[in-house]
Amino acid sequence: MTTTEAPIPVRSPLPQGLAGQTAVVIGGSSGIGLAAGAMLASLGARVVLTGRDKARLDAAVEHARAAGPEAEVLGVAGDAADDAALEETFERAGTVDHVLLTAGSIAGPAPITEVTRDGAREAFEGRLWPALAAARTAVPRMRAGGSITLTSGNLVVRPRPGMALLSAVGGVETLTRALAVELAPRRLRTNTVRYGMFDTPLARGVIGAGADAAGDEAVAKAGLQTPLGRLGTADEAAAAVLFLMANPYMTGQILTIDGGQDL
Ligand SMILES: NC(=O)c1ccc[n+]([C@@H]2O[C@H](COP(=O)([O-])OP(=O)(O)OC[C@H]3O[C@@H](n4cnc5c(N)ncnc54)[C@H](OP(=O)(O)O)[C@@H]3O)[C@@H](O)[C@H]2O)c1
Repeated sequence: MTTTEAPIPVRSPLPQGLAGQTAVVIGGSSGIGLAAGAMLASLGARVVLTGRDKARLDAAVEHARAAGPEAEVLGVAGDAADDAALEETFERAGTVDHVLLTAGSIAGPAPITEVTRDGAREAFEGRLWPALAAARTAVPRMRAGGSITLTSGNLVVRPRPGMALLSAVGGVETLTRALAVELAPRRLRTNTVRYGMFDTPLARGVIGAGADAAGDEAVAKAGLQTPLGRLGTADEAAAAVLFLMANPYMTGQILTIDGGQDL
């Protein structure tokens, strides 16, 4: 293992400190990743976005370029569960400072008596493997002071019946702490953001809301069940990621942002 004896670089912990750094957003063509990519570009970071759907990814690249006209924004289409695609992404990214992983399919609800080995394998390969593979592929290319940010959800702390499989892939939180310890000698950091429900295409899919006015109404109604009276926005979700990326003293942490939904 390559180690460094130098202390972790001290630099501004504010998001503005991300200017000029390179961030790879795996799952950057929609929702939280899309918002993070645009914010990073607006701060002057170099941004590499990935996603499977090429047309959606191209639109995301344009969106990020519009947010940060001075920033270099690159799109690399590919599946985060495909090792070759990840390798190509990081090959094209070059030296990397930050990685955000928001990609990952979610298993539908199923009672434990109906969970199958194939379903479990699919869930683990769709969510846990991309986290391990992204770290494995990124680390040799990362600069000291850089960070990996993974994604989790508050089902991990508030499980519901039928969600055993989805809760089990919450092991990403344990992985966060393991990577933080293992990568600290390289002066690399690992954190996870644990989300409540945010208004993104994924969440709209879960609550059966479209992108139209009726969908907005359904989102507003779902938000009324939460302590703050609305769902979070993708920008609010992305800002939590930028905090973790920018602050050189944050590692091994699970940061919950959920508007009090787990209370
Ligand atoms: N929104 C919420 O309320 C909420 C709550 C808890 C946790 N989360 C977690 O937060 C993360 C982001 O959620 P979101 O709401 O922003 O979702 P989203 O709007 O569906 O965006 C997901 C992004 O990831 C990409 N993606 C999905 N699977 C991929 C794969 N295998 N390889 C490469 N790219 C992939 C998607 O593009 P393609 O489909 O084109 O690949 C898209 O760009 C997810 O892991 C989600 O489970 C979200």
